[in-house]
Amino acid sequence: MKTTISVIKADVGSIGGHIKPSARLKQTVEQFVRDKGKKLLSDLYVSSTGDDVALLMAHERGANDSKIHELAWDAFMAGTKVAKEQGLYGAGQDLLKDAFSGNIRGLGPASCEMEFEERPNEPFIFFAADKTDPGAYNLPLYLAFCDPMHCAGLLLSPKMAKGFTFTIMDVNHTEGDRVIELNAPEELYDIACLLRDNERFVVESIRSRANNDIAAVVSTSRLHNIAGTYTGKDDPVALVRTQGNFPATGEILSPFRIGHYVAGTMRGSHNGPLMPVKLNSTISFFDGPAIVSAAAFCVHNGKFTEPVDAFDHPFWDWVRNNVSQKAAEIRNQGFSGPAMLPYSELEYGGVVEKMGQLDERFIVRKDEVHAAAGAGNGRKKKAA
Ligand code: 13P
Ligand code: 13P
Ligand code: MG
Ligand code: MG
Repeated sequence: MKTTISVIKADVGSIGGHIKPSARLKQTVEQFVRDKGKKLLSDLYVSSTGDDVALLMAHERGANDSKIHELAWDAFMAGTKVAKEQGLYGAGQDLLKDAFSGNIRGLGPASCEMEFEERPNEPFIFFAADKTDPGAYNLPLYLAFCDPMHCAGLLLSPKMAKGFTFTIMDVNHTEGDRVIELNAPEELYDIACLLRDNERFVVESIRSRANNDIAAVVSTSRLHNIAGTYTGKDDPVALVRTQGNFPATGEILSPFRIGHYVAGTMRGSHNGPLMPVKLNSTISFFDGPAIVSAAAFCVHNGKFTEPVDAFDHPFWDWVRNNVSQKAAEIRNQGFSGPAMLPYSELEYGGVVEKMGQLDERFIVRKDEVHAAAGAGNGRKKKAA
């Protein structure tokens, strides 16, 4: 029997700005899925990370099942109704299309799914991030699956010696899925070359080369590519199976100690460090820092254990303090240079209008004026 685990998550409204969904909204979404999904699902876990509500579902229907996707879509519609009734901020924010059309991908909510034959013991981690985009997982996944500095199993476990295959997606290509498969360790530098660019190339999935088993999946949707304008951040989710042929749970968590700089925080327009937080955490400083939560489970015959909060440990308090320091440091330079995202990302927001207005006010100096003004922009003066 094969088990499918699907995560579908959306921001359909939150309290006090982009901080946290209301308890009633969350309960409504959960109750909807429990009632309508009785015959479809073998288990369900509902959580929030910042202002996003995630449905972690177990079933036997495989990935891309229209009934499962429709169930999630309808649940988020029910949540949107509550958000409107309560006057929550951003009611229905991530539901970018008017109606469900067979598959949730391309409609706004983030989703990732994996189908596998359950091992006798089946540990996995469910990650959810808020105020950032899917490329936020690039570096942690690269380090956890390719680098013995984080993944000791690459040296110590014969099962992992063959390495892993990365499927990487070019998310700028909106006409269809443009993907490439690359093998670690032989093609490490090629993998790094792509994953360097978090805004364009994102890890979609990782497989074990020992047996081709699925190890990790990540949601790849970029909302500005769907909406054509800035409507909110993508806030990606990921599932990672651990132990056995895969990295140990602690090896997968290890790179999150870095608190690496990712795109997001305020108005989705800045760079800031990614803070590992406890389950159901809120958002605060400068609509950030961008956060990631990790719920560890085992699944057996399609039933989840209770979640273990993988970032709820004194070690991560120390990490959170360090990440706060990094967040304050980059905020010290406000809008300048690397503190904000490049124009290619900002062009989905209001800055386009401002740049257009300013563009009209620019003048190009005539050569005489230029000469009189001295060096100008360093252009060579024409010979007289
Ligand atoms: P235990 O002995 O606690 O099972 O740990 C084994 C291990 O390899 C952890 O990474
Ligand atoms: P969300 O995508 O989490 O709603 O955040 C949007 C934003 O712009 C926060 O400043
Ligand atoms: Mg929001
Ligand atoms: Mg969000």
